[in-house]
Amino acid sequence: MSEEKKTRWYKDAFVYQIYPRSFCDSNGDGIGDIPGIISKLDHLKDLGVDAVWLSPCYKSPNDDNGYDISDYRDIMDEFGTLDDWKIMIKGMHDRGIKLIMDLVVNHTSDEHQWFKDSRLSKDNPYRDYYIWRKGKGKNGKKPPNNWTSRFGGSAWEYDDATEEWYLHLFTKKQPDLNWDNPKVRQEVIDICNYWFELGVDGFRCDVITYISKAKGLPDGKYNILARGDEHFTHGPNIHEYLKQVNKESWSKYDTMIVGEAAGVTIEQALLYTAEERKEMDCVFQFEHFEASFWMHIIPLKFDLRKIQKVFSRWQFGLMQKGWNSLYLENHDQPRSLDSYTPGFEGHREEAAKMLAVAIFMQQGTPFMYQGQEIGMTNYPFKSFDECKDVVVQNIRKMLHPLDKIFEKTAIKILKKRSRDNARTPMQWSSSENAGFSSSEPWIMVNPNFTEVNVEKDKENPNSILNFYKKLIAFRKGNEAIIKGSFKENDPGNKDILCYERWYHGERLFIVCNFKNSEVNFRAPLDAAYLECELALHNYGYDRPLLQSLVLRPYEAMVYILK
Ligand code: GLC
Ligand code: CA
Repeated sequence: MSEEKKTRWYKDAFVYQIYPRSFCDSNGDGIGDIPGIISKLDHLKDLGVDAVWLSPCYKSPNDDNGYDISDYRDIMDEFGTLDDWKIMIKGMHDRGIKLIMDLVVNHTSDEHQWFKDSRLSKDNPYRDYYIWRKGKGKNGKKPPNNWTSRFGGSAWEYDDATEEWYLHLFTKKQPDLNWDNPKVRQEVIDICNYWFELGVDGFRCDVITYISKAKGLPDGKYNILARGDEHFTHGPNIHEYLKQVNKESWSKYDTMIVGEAAGVTIEQALLYTAEERKEMDCVFQFEHFEASFWMHIIPLKFDLRKIQKVFSRWQFGLMQKGWNSLYLENHDQPRSLDSYTPGFEGHREEAAKMLAVAIFMQQGTPFMYQGQEIGMTNYPFKSFDECKDVVVQNIRKMLHPLDKIFEKTAIKILKKRSRDNARTPMQWSSSENAGFSSSEPWIMVNPNFTEVNVEKDKENPNSILNFYKKLIAFRKGNEAIIKGSFKENDPGNKDILCYERWYHGERLFIVCNFKNSEVNFRAPLDAAYLECELALHNYGYDRPLLQSLVLRPYEAMVYILK
């Protein structure tokens, strides 16, 4: 089998991300599970999505909710069994839905057998599966270099058994694999092929840009927050390693491979996603989210112009050369309503629909996150104790005993930034625990569940859910959206995002008001007054494209111009 196996179905696919722990609990232990997912497959089918990206469901001690894997070939006890998983994938395939699994191979859990063996002795055959080094200082009691973990503190942990340190770019229970070892690469290839043989249609590759570390592991530049980045992001052998996995696994099946790539530039994204380079199909870049933060942490005032610039740069930058992924939410980022339409209260439904139009009429593969289809919002945190995320717990430990003093400021930041915002249980109905579980969920339910839930949205023809259905159906097979060129209108506008998609005489005109109040809009002369069809409108009534319009709060339209 060769590269021809790839039909590139993902170019016309709408992907829905499931975070299994928070999706649906079938057995009343407060934790979402695979039978729970199975019970909701008709919801996905009804929505019209083509694929599911499932966050990790492998065996894991759950230091980082499954992003710390202890057995790549089996299912986490809390989520069910491999047999349940087989029923789930069959249920998806029977409904025409593909399955993309999470591939977490920058690191494993410290409870993975490889690591347990690796730490036993310096000459253990698994020693070189991980990155072990002698410490600095007289007794070797100082870390081998100054790199920091993405989750705070040193990226090194001392291990008494062999008196050496191991590298962990995330928590100390997530030791980094040594990709320079060909055996590790072979393991990854075997794991991918194992799941492909079981029917999986692709992978989302977790922090994949970190897998190749600079030779000699040199100290990083001084930076108060994070050190070492320049020595392990897009490292020296990354393209060689990806090409190898592509050749020996990913290209042998009809797959979609998407890589998580924080901090990636357009130039680098082209190296990862240009088809002829045979690496990955697309990457998740983070620029549109990061534009609203200073130093990745301090929330800044929302500025549409920054976001618009990011959108346009990526649209132009990858057009006909690479492939974009389009997303506003995932399990690591807060809810899009809070991030991109602050002040949406009172217009939640219009704002959520407008955001769907703003992002998903662009070129690339759309990814939506569970709950986005009903406009779920951030959690109203009041105290540190409500924060479950290991990152927050780590930071809190580091601040202790001063953590209480910083709590007020921290909560302000967490409301905008915490990963827990997206991890509150999926809101299915207005019954107890939002219909997610019959007992108390592992993480608090957003108190707005009586207003914001699937059951309510199903009944209302003008709901966000029903708008998404229309949008997904409109996008399907639409050549102007899938293949069309991109044109920006009035790019400096601080309130309105307006762009067009052109393809062989087809012309789509998209206009989105990001403001929670009325705004004057002037359409370009070559578009206004043309014969047009209003394909999508979040206010739901017919409205021709005139040269001058007063847009209502968060109003969004998609016109087909003739
Ligand atoms: C990725 C995942 C995140 C996880 C981290 C470490 O960023 O999306 O949830 O904590 O990698 O695996
Ligand atoms: Ca359960």
